[in-house]
Amino acid sequence: MPYLVTGCAGFIGSHLCERLLGQGLRLTGVDCFTDYYAREIKEQNLKSSFQHPNFSFHPVDLNSAPLQELIKEVDGIFHLAAQPGVRASWGRSFEVYLQHNLLALQKLLEAAKEQGGPRIVFASSSSVYGHTDRFPTPETAAKRPLSPYGVTKLAGEALCDLYCKNYGLDIISLRFFTVYGPRQRPDMAFHRFFRALLEGQPIHVYGDGRQTRDFTYIADILDGVIAAMEKGVSGRAYNLGGGHQRQLLEVIRLLAEICDRDPVLQFEPAQKGDVRDTYADNSLARAELGFDPKSDLKTGLAEQLKWIKGLS
Ligand code: UGA
Repeated sequence: MPYLVTGCAGFIGSHLCERLLGQGLRLTGVDCFTDYYAREIKEQNLKSSFQHPNFSFHPVDLNSAPLQELIKEVDGIFHLAAQPGVRASWGRSFEVYLQHNLLALQKLLEAAKEQGGPRIVFASSSSVYGHTDRFPTPETAAKRPLSPYGVTKLAGEALCDLYCKNYGLDIISLRFFTVYGPRQRPDMAFHRFFRALLEGQPIHVYGDGRQTRDFTYIADILDGVIAAMEKGVSGRAYNLGGGHQRQLLEVIRLLAEICDRDPVLQFEPAQKGDVRDTYADNSLARAELGFDPKSDLKTGLAEQLKWIKGLS
């Protein structure tokens, strides 16, 4: 039986497809190529999966796709399709976030309900917590998102919960903490910083650069996503973080060292929607999924740099 991967051309989705196809699984991939960043990048992400005989691709928007047809014979759904980006979710673009992060999810849940409910792994975000003073942050911490994007992810989790409780659907939410590595989206910090360093441009740092993130390498995220499908407890939300809290300025020094360049920093006002700090308590994921993020930041960044150099 195949699996469905939504958002299969994105950063995480495309890696997931490759990993699952490599395990001999059959996959249906869906992606509607939203214009958040260039379609060519996403097509490039999918290049090797496209050539795989076990991969069937549908370039459709979940809001109008024949969902019953798509999920008819699937064993499980990895729902990664979303409008990403914390800082871009203000103003008129909020409609797009609603469309892709909530309306599409609701349609998928309705379709899954009709089909007797294949397991769904839903990609949520550390953004659901907002500002918190609990570090590392457990899943039970208060959820007060600071960005409209975070609001849509928290509402998405709540919607999943409703379908679990009312219709017995089997759903697991995963809260990803700032994922990095090859194919990282072009709006994200490390992608932008690497490009700036390679092009001899200043690095635009939002705020004082002393904010911290629990940066998580893509390979570790894939381990957590696949383990959630295999052994996650239905109805749960799990944190998936890299296991270390790093200050942005410290990571910029590391990026510069890896590139062998002197960074020029240009400080910009802190951006609305950005939380100050994140740091995941992974205990639940460790206990129930066997999640054990092993990647070392320097090695992961070197892999990302190799990929970025291959792009330009
Ligand atoms: C990332 C993803 O973009 C979200 O989709 C995801 O849901 C979120 O992680 C999460 O963990 O919940 P973010 O932490 O903002 O969001 O990731 P980056 O874009 O890599 O930013 C990391 C830090 O660098 C932030 O403090 C940001 O303000 C800063 N930054 C980013 C800059 O200083 N300059 C830039 O040009 C870009």
